[in-house]
Amino acid sequence: MKSLASRLVPKTVEKLIPYQSARRIGGSGHLWLNANELEQSCRYGAGDGEYHRYPDFLPHELADTYRVYCQGAGDTLNCDAVAVRGADEAIDLMIRTFCQPGADKIMICPPTYAMYEFCAESIAVEAVKAPLLDDFQLDMTSITKQLAETKILFLCSPNNPTGNVINQADIITLLEAGKESTLIVVDEAYIEFAPDTSVINLIEQYPHLVVIRTLSKAFGLAAIRCGFLLADSCVMEYISRLIAPYPIADPVAEIALRALDSDGIQKMRIQSDELISTREWFAEEVQKLAIVERVYVSATNFVLIRFASAECMYSYLLSKGIVTRNQVHEPALANCVRISIGSKSSMLETLNALQEYK
Ligand SMILES: Cc1ncc(COP(=O)(O)O)c(C=O)c1O
Repeated sequence: MKSLASRLVPKTVEKLIPYQSARRIGGSGHLWLNANELEQSCRYGAGDGEYHRYPDFLPHELADTYRVYCQGAGDTLNCDAVAVRGADEAIDLMIRTFCQPGADKIMICPPTYAMYEFCAESIAVEAVKAPLLDDFQLDMTSITKQLAETKILFLCSPNNPTGNVINQADIITLLEAGKESTLIVVDEAYIEFAPDTSVINLIEQYPHLVVIRTLSKAFGLAAIRCGFLLADSCVMEYISRLIAPYPIADPVAEIALRALDSDGIQKMRIQSDELISTREWFAEEVQKLAIVERVYVSATNFVLIRFASAECMYSYLLSKGIVTRNQVHEPALANCVRISIGSKSSMLETLNALQEYK
């Protein structure tokens, strides 16, 4: 039987032959004169590596290393992985691969990460909305009603900007409901701050589930632009047709591989634990302030705070040189400000500023 991915993919993508880059065509020989590269090159500065050749057309070693990191000790993860230029590229790729401009729809559950809607609208794909409930959990009735007409449902867990984890039982219910109609993407950009809540192991049972990850958050590597898309091979077959010819630059792969070795993973876990303890201390202290209505529980590296007036607090903090994220554009988040968790001293300075507010 045909997979759901192959039934959903537009004809144009189905017919598409991936761009045949020199590295993809490959070959064997002792002179490589097939890619219009320089055979040798000058160096432009101290510490430069050898960068005159194009990188892998798909960095398989990096993708495999990430898969091993995901599966943890003892388990086997039965899915494919591909490395991309940040989770943002994975979102864009999913939409461009499976949605036909002017015809298809995705579904989002706001307040959530803005890129799902942006990427969809940029190619005339409608983003249907099923807003989160007051407790920031999924409105299952609203989602299920619209699911059959939706090509991709984007869920974000832990969610940005609310910070909470989406109930796994709800995700499973939707995976069952969408089996014949909808690819379900779970964006796990913040998963290292709530590792037990990942749905990655469900890909084997639900081949229409796609998980998006990144090295930008807990690994602290936002500048290198490296993310991953994990999915069944039936989804990956189409993703690999649209992916850019050389998505990952060599220096990026080198840094990412170091972050994903056992020493790197241990360092990431130590810095995540420290961040979580700073977050909990900051949230507890901020909650004591009279100007604060509520600090929402967070499973991420930020906290969402509801003030009596967000506009004032955002501008006030800015006047003190502290740049936060106003949520004024989100109807459900009136008076909320999102604050990333920095070092203990940065959070102490922020707390002091809030305490001094008159
Ligand atoms: C939920 C979510 N997904 C994806 C991203 C983008 O991640 P990347 O830096 O890997 O593109 C972010 C960044 O803030 C995010 O909050």
